[in-house]
Amino acid sequence: MGLSGSSPLGPLAGTFFLSPPFFQLLQHLDDEMIVILDFGSQFTQLIARRIREQKVYCEIHPCTVPLEKIKALQPQGIILSGGPSSVLGENAPTIDPELFDWGVPVLGICYGQQLMVSLLGGKVENSDHSEYGRTGIHIDHEGTFFQDVPQEKEVVVWMSHGDRVISIPQGFEVLATSQSSPYAAIAHLEKKFFGIQFHPEVVHTNYGTQVLKNFIFEICGCEGSWSMQSFMETQLEQIRKRVGKEKVLCALSGGVDSSVVAALLHKAIGDQLVCVFVDNGLLRQGEADRVIKLFRTHLHVNLIHVDAKRLFLDKLIGVTDPEKKRKIIGNTFIEIFDAESTKLNEVRFLAQGTLYPDVIESESFKGPSAVIKSHHNVGGLPEDMKMELVEPLRELFKDEVRELGLTLGLDEDVVFRHPFPGPGLGIRILGEITDERVETLQKADKIVMTEIKKAGWYRKVWQSFAVLLPVKSVGVMGDCRTYEWTVALRCVDSKDAMTADWTHLPYDLLGRISNRIVNEVPKVNRVVYDITSKPPGTIEWE
Ligand code: XMP
Repeated sequence: MGLSGSSPLGPLAGTFFLSPPFFQLLQHLDDEMIVILDFGSQFTQLIARRIREQKVYCEIHPCTVPLEKIKALQPQGIILSGGPSSVLGENAPTIDPELFDWGVPVLGICYGQQLMVSLLGGKVENSDHSEYGRTGIHIDHEGTFFQDVPQEKEVVVWMSHGDRVISIPQGFEVLATSQSSPYAAIAHLEKKFFGIQFHPEVVHTNYGTQVLKNFIFEICGCEGSWSMQSFMETQLEQIRKRVGKEKVLCALSGGVDSSVVAALLHKAIGDQLVCVFVDNGLLRQGEADRVIKLFRTHLHVNLIHVDAKRLFLDKLIGVTDPEKKRKIIGNTFIEIFDAESTKLNEVRFLAQGTLYPDVIESESFKGPSAVIKSHHNVGGLPEDMKMELVEPLRELFKDEVRELGLTLGLDEDVVFRHPFPGPGLGIRILGEITDERVETLQKADKIVMTEIKKAGWYRKVWQSFAVLLPVKSVGVMGDCRTYEWTVALRCVDSKDAMTADWTHLPYDLLGRISNRIVNEVPKVNRVVYDITSKPPGTIEWE
């Protein structure tokens, strides 16, 4: 069912994970910044994305944050997001009206507009003229707010509201109307307060980005000087200041986030960083060597490589239940990591690859998201570790983490890696895990990777891999009857792993992969392609 392409949320439809407190965000006081106050809209993260795309740094804060804290951030402008509530409702979320006496430009979007209107003396009503989805607006305004947006024709915008403004506060004027909203865009031009009924952040709103650009550049006076290079330099400085001469421990998995965290910390503090890489024997073929070569040989990172293949595989003998496998793998990882950190003596800091969506979700106005990946902690770290967290990626979205990785000089190969589960091939070998079955799957998986990359599909898909089924079937090879295992191919498109659709790979590519697997991987005589979306399927088979 693939929601990805059709959702107005664009790349951020649904985010996940639990996370640490909101206000540990490092501030960029010397840089320009826009603050978005979140009233619970599903589009709030998109506003932030659109602004950061313009190289203007911005942060999302819950609408409940005290005004002093917002003032302390010294933003160039404030955006009040949309939200599901009605300003007419009893417990409608609100803000300190003093915000409007402070002299900073404010843009209210949808609920944000209605709140601004009602706090400043205008009126909002529960309307029978709800507008959801596509609507046309007519702009009648010569100023910079609608600069480079056509005035002579209807502009298509995306609306999503039940309430609407019916009278505007003193000093405000109308900049645009729609058939159902006489106040589709309003402003107090002198005070630089703007209110729009439509959502400029969603892709369905034509010229939406232009409107946001006009607000941040023309109205707030931002220059767009934020770059990954400057972000990296600020982070390096902050890390050095915070860590001093202490040691930082980092669990390296070889995945994008931990690799970028390790590379950044290493650049900041060199040998004070100690990385622990646990090889559980369930990694992709050649993965352990790749991680060691990159971090130890090329980057000269202080890397502890724990080859624990035997320990993991011995503990998994005879285990077929997926949840038991996960628990064994997760607990064994924790045991090893704990033991290694104890050996190191007095490590004060622990580095983690927490990303911005995790931060926002944990402290957003709505509270923690209801959609939490049940297994995100498997292969994670001991919860009772008493170390202080260093989370240098907590202000970044996933694609910004990739950009930071490139800025740090990491290879595209590392930076654009597909997600790989903590329990690794352990949850892609259905039934019992044996040395032989691990080797079989590694060989098949290697072929999938090689062919997908060769055909130029690797960067186009979210994940691609092979699964080894505990199913034997009859075949014929060289005139002989065979009775061997089956490999399933899984390749999906997704934006966030919460929903996914199977990738429509070209038949000839599927054919090549299948041919190579049955010809080159001993004990496999059949290949099938998984054409299940998520939901109802999951991406992994276990
Ligand atoms: P599912 O199978 O739930 O997977 O659709 C969603 C995403 O999560 C990854 N995944 C895991 N990651 N430990 C992890 O670190 C796990 O136990 C685990 N199980 C699934 C999966 O690869 C996909 O990207």
